[in-house]
Order: sequence, then structure tokens, then C-alpha cells
Amino acid sequence: VETELLLIKLGGSVITHKNKAFSPNLHNLYEISKVLAEFWIENPTQMCLVHGGGGFAHVVARQYAVQSTFFSKNKLGISLVTWSARKLNDRVIESLVDYNLPVFPLQTSALIVMDNKKLKINMRIMTTIVDAGWIPVLYGDMLPGEKEARIVSGERILELLCKKFDVEKIIVCTNTDGVLRDLRKPEMGVIESINPTNMRSISRRLQSSSAIDITGGMKDKVRVLYRIARKMGVKSQIINGTNPLILKDCLHNKNVVCTWIEGEI
Ligand SMILES: Nc1ncnc2c1ncn2[C@@H]1O[C@H](COP(=O)(O)OP(=O)(O)O)[C@@H](O)[C@H]1O
Ligand SMILES: [Mg+2]
Repeated sequence: VETELLLIKLGGSVITHKNKAFSPNLHNLYEISKVLAEFWIENPTQMCLVHGGGGFAHVVARQYAVQSTFFSKNKLGISLVTWSARKLNDRVIESLVDYNLPVFPLQTSALIVMDNKKLKINMRIMTTIVDAGWIPVLYGDMLPGEKEARIVSGERILELLCKKFDVEKIIVCTNTDGVLRDLRKPEMGVIESINPTNMRSISRRLQSSSAIDITGGMKDKVRVLYRIARKMGVKSQIINGTNPLILKDCLHNKNVVCTWIEGEI
């Protein structure tokens, strides 16, 4: 039996101060690294991490008018966005290796290519790393194209991985307890499950992000995760990554405050 891969996304809103340029949230980063390391020592499962761009890539992209909705042509802007994403990745890797996690940093733009406007991932590299027991760490990045470059968000990377791997579940860490019923009234709690019975009405009401997020914030996150659930049958759990206890329980499959995104009921 092929082993299942555990996919974890660390939102830029958790690991950086999202509206500030180049400011990692070291507190959250180290708390998360510690929880992941403790879990992994007990359960050395096949795992892959994906992180967002937060106050690194998103802020720089905004400055250089690099947008996800169209293929950007600003060459220098693209250089700076991909470089800033890499800088954050470097910081993430540092924190994970500090807790002795055998991570393998992968430059997304060297692993995923645009082929006729379709994204393709080099599975040879991925399976070599995963099968040998490393934890690949990917991140939202810019991909070069023949004429123009394109942004690939962390969520799109999750989708590509789900197409190719047998994924157990996706844990998506962000800076809210899940999808809030009302963003302005967090005390009203989260939507516990987004599934075919309520997806339409929820997605109509969802907003993007209160921070700078050029890839569409919560609205796009839910849209892509729902597509993954429907098409690939992989469930995701959106949790508050700023609380390490929630991540810990979630890794151990305990019930936590969160939003499940499910393809069926
Ligand atoms: N209903 C909602 N519940 C929670 N967050 C929401 C909601 N609507 C919009 N958002 C915004 O989405 C943000 C999370 O998305 P995003 O900024 O892309 O996070 P990440 O960096 O983790 O990908 C929240 O911080 C919030 O501003
Ligand atoms: Mg985002």
C-alpha cells in the first residue's frame, strides 16, 4: 500500500507580519516548527510543507504592480517578487532545521513549470525527496513563461500536489480560527463545514483579505480547496496557525475549532 502524504500549508499571515515588508513572525514560525518537529519525531510520516508569501512576496508584488489576475510583464518586479519569496523560504527553512526537521528546500519555479499555460510539477524530484524521507518545503512563487511570468499561490501548489500524490488531508494554517461567519464579528465563530450544500451561498459572501494578498485571500483559498475536495476527494481543514495547541491537536486528528472543506456530505 502506498503511504499517504500529509500536506500542511503555513499561511503568510501566520509566519510574517503581513502588511510589513520583510518582517517574519519569528514567534509563530518557531512555535509551529516546534510542534511539527515534536509530531514528526513520533510519527515520521510522509509530509510536505507549503508556505505563502505574506509580507515578503505580497508586499513587493503590490509595489511593482504584479497581479495574479493577469500575466505580469514587469521583468524587474518579477525578479524582486521571486527573490523576496525565496528570502522568506530561507527563514522558514532555518527555523525548521533548528528543530532538526529533515526538510528539503525546493525553489518552486525550478520544480513547477508552465506548459502551454498549464502548470506541471516535476514528480521525479518530488518522489525522490519524499520517498527518501525528507520533507519538501515549497512556497508561492512566480513562474517564468515564454513571454510573461505568472504567480502560483500556495493553494495552487496544494492542488498540483493532490493531483499527483495520495494525500491524506490538508492542514491550512491561517490567522483566523477558520472561515468566520462574519469577519467583523469573530465572536460569532466559524463555519464548521463548507460542502456542496452550502458552498455557493458562502462563497458569494466571502471577502478576500484584510491584509495585502494579491492571490485572493480567503475567498480564493476556499475556492481552490473546495475544488480539490470535489475533484480529488481530499479534505482540508483551515485552522488558526497562530495557536500552536490547535495545530498540535489537528496533527493528532483530534477535534479542533476549524473549518472543514469537504467535497461531499
Ligand atoms: N469569512 C472570513 N473568515 C476569515 N477570514 C476572512 C474571511 N473573509 C475574509 N477573510 C480574510 O482572509 C484572511 C486570510 O487569508 P490570507 O490573507 O490569504 O491568509 P494567508 O496568508 O494565511 O493565506 C484573513 O486574515 C481575513 O482578513
Ligand atoms: Mg493567502
